[in-house]
Amino acid sequence: MKTVVVTGATSGIGFAVCAELLMRGCRVIGLGHSKKNCRAAREKLLLINPAYDVTYFWGDLMQQTEVVRLAGRIKSDLLRNNGGELAALVNNVGCVRSWYMTTGEGYEQQFALNHLSGFLLTHELFGPLVKGGGVILFTSSGSHKLMKMNWQDLMFQRRYRPLYAYKQSKLCNMLTAFELNSRYAGQGIRAYGINPGLVRTEIGSKNTGKLVDFVWKQRSRHGVDPSVPARVYGDMICTGQKAEGLYHGAGGLMKHSGEVNRKNAVKLFEISESLCHIRFGVSEECLS
Ligand SMILES: NC(=O)c1ccc[n+]([C@@H]2O[C@H](COP(=O)([O-])OP(=O)(O)OC[C@H]3O[C@@H](n4cnc5c(N)ncnc54)[C@H](OP(=O)(O)O)[C@@H]3O)[C@@H](O)[C@H]2O)c1
Repeated sequence: MKTVVVTGATSGIGFAVCAELLMRGCRVIGLGHSKKNCRAAREKLLLINPAYDVTYFWGDLMQQTEVVRLAGRIKSDLLRNNGGELAALVNNVGCVRSWYMTTGEGYEQQFALNHLSGFLLTHELFGPLVKGGGVILFTSSGSHKLMKMNWQDLMFQRRYRPLYAYKQSKLCNMLTAFELNSRYAGQGIRAYGINPGLVRTEIGSKNTGKLVDFVWKQRSRHGVDPSVPARVYGDMICTGQKAEGLYHGAGGLMKHSGEVNRKNAVKLFEISESLCHIRFGVSEECLS
């Protein structure tokens, strides 16, 4: 049985991905923010089928210490239940912010949650992913195409532009997937950016202002149900062969932005390693 870790698993796309993967016979470890929402999500899934194998862990993924702590719990679980192997990691957690807000570690929140948390979690779970010949999916967005990296002011500290910060975080997802493939395809790792399309979720109404809440409610009405993009994740993870290309959506392989190139990918990867105080590498432990 394949074990898959999904972040942002209590609502919207992440919850639908959990439901889809469980329906296809996977074992799912979902990550959420609060105990309350994790318990509610698990109960909802077990109502669909009480035999589903689903576990939730909770913590604030904006905080790097929490990402590392949760990864520790996941690794113990994988050792107990799966010989330490992880078939797939879905880095889906995300937020929208209307104002410049920082994490306890001083990083802009959209950059920290939408990009750095998945980057760090991938690093922490890299051994199990290599052992499991794993697939890493990042929930990106078509909006990554509307953005260039703002290298001079990566976290928009000088002039905060919330929408730019969001779009850039989605470009970061693409660049991370690109660089993981460049470095580790030889170790059997494959990473992808997923474009879920416009999806009816409440992302624009959580910790945002009245205006963003209002605009998002109007806009998201035209979106699809989260179960629609969830099928893409199901196909990418559960189909026997690993898909070609980097960027996928409901219609299959898609064209990504020209900004998704090696130069930008290497630069972002190195900056992110430094911001997370880590160095990616394939250790002996990963290969054993
Ligand atoms: N909706 C769209 O149209 C759309 C389009 C393109 C891309 N996306 C991307 O899709 C992903 C999922 O978004 P969604 O639309 O499904 O929104 P959502 O329903 O709000 O999902 C966000 C998830 O992240 C969790 N979360 C938020 N802050 C967290 C934190 N600090 N620590 C741990 N977990 C946290 C939320 O948990 P709680 O709710 O329990 O706090 C929830 O499970 C995001 O990366 C987003 O950028 C969405």
